[in-house]
Amino acid sequence: MMIRIAKSSDKFHILKFCKNTFSWGDYIKDVWDHWLSEGNLLVIEKTNPIGVCHAVFSKNQVWIEGIRINSNFRRQNLASNLISKVESLAIQKQIPISLMLIDTENIPSLLMAQNLGYKINQTWKFYSLFPQENNSYEISYEKIIPNSELSHYVKSWRWIPLDDDTISSLNSKKCIVQSKKDKDPTIAILGDSEHFEKTLIVTLFTGSKNNTMNIISFLQNFGFEKKYQRLQILTKETLPEFRDLEHKISFHLMQKLLS
Ligand SMILES: CC(C)(COP(=O)(O)OP(=O)(O)OC[C@H]1O[C@@H](n2cnc3c(N)ncnc32)[C@H](O)[C@@H]1OP(=O)(O)O)[C@@H](O)C(=O)NCCC(=O)NCCS
Repeated sequence: MMIRIAKSSDKFHILKFCKNTFSWGDYIKDVWDHWLSEGNLLVIEKTNPIGVCHAVFSKNQVWIEGIRINSNFRRQNLASNLISKVESLAIQKQIPISLMLIDTENIPSLLMAQNLGYKINQTWKFYSLFPQENNSYEISYEKIIPNSELSHYVKSWRWIPLDDDTISSLNSKKCIVQSKKDKDPTIAILGDSEHFEKTLIVTLFTGSKNNTMNIISFLQNFGFEKKYQRLQILTKETLPEFRDLEHKISFHLMQKLLS
C-alpha cells in the first residue's frame, strides 16, 4: 500500500467507488477538481487507488475531509493510515489540532475516529432553507466582537475558528447580519460556497426565538433576491419550526490534539 498525492488520472478510479457512498449519493465528483488544485489530496493505492482523503492545513488546525475507502478494501486500516499520514504532516508543520466532521449516524466513521484518538468537540445541525420572497424582517449589518459562544464559522463546509483575526476580516467584509429585535441577538455569518454554484452557507448563532425567526425570514428573502439555489444553515442549536426550513443531518465536529 502506498500513500501519495493524487493526480488527475486518479479521478476515474476514485469516482468509480464514490458514487453511492451514502443514501443520497456522494459529492466527491463535484469537488475533485477543486481539491486537486487546492493541493493535499491524498490517495492510497494497491494496483489502483482504493482510498482518498483531502487535508487543508492552516496555522492552527488541519481539516480532514472526504475520507473514502473502496468498500472491497475496508477494515484493513487504510482510512486510519491516510489520517495518520495527514496528522504526521500536520505535526511536521507544528499544527496543534486536527479536525473532521462526521455525520452523527455514521457509526463506522465515528468508531474509526475515536480509535484514532478523536473526541466529539461540538455537535452541529444542518438545515436547508428554500429561497422565497419574504418581506417580514428587520436586520442590521453589524460588527461582532469575539466571545466564547462564537467558536467557529463554516466556510465551504470547513469549520474555521473565530479568532480575533478571522472576526475582524469577516467584519470588514460585511458578511455578518444580526437581529436585535429583543434582548438576545441572533447572528448570521454569510458566505458563498467555493465548490458549489449559487449556494449560500450560513453559520447561525441563535438568540431569542423572535430574533432567529427574523433572521431566517431575511435569509429566505436574501436567497430569493440573489437567486441562490441552495441556502445551507449550520447551527449548534435546534431551530424553530419555519415553513421551507428542513433539518437534514447532524454532525459531530471531531477533534484531536496533536501536541
Ligand atoms: C469510514 C471508512 C472511511 C473507514 O475506512 P476503513 O479503511 O474501513 O477504516 P479502518 O480499517 O481504518 O478502521 C479502523 C477502525 O475503525 C473502526 N471501524 C471502521 N469501520 C467500521 C465498521 N464498519 N464497523 C465497526 N467499526 C468500524 C474499527 O474499530 C476499525 O478497527 P478494526 O477493523 O481493527 O476493528 C469507510 O468505511 C468508508 O469509506 N465509509 C464510507 C465513507 C465515509 O463514511 N467516510 C467518512 C466520512 S466522515
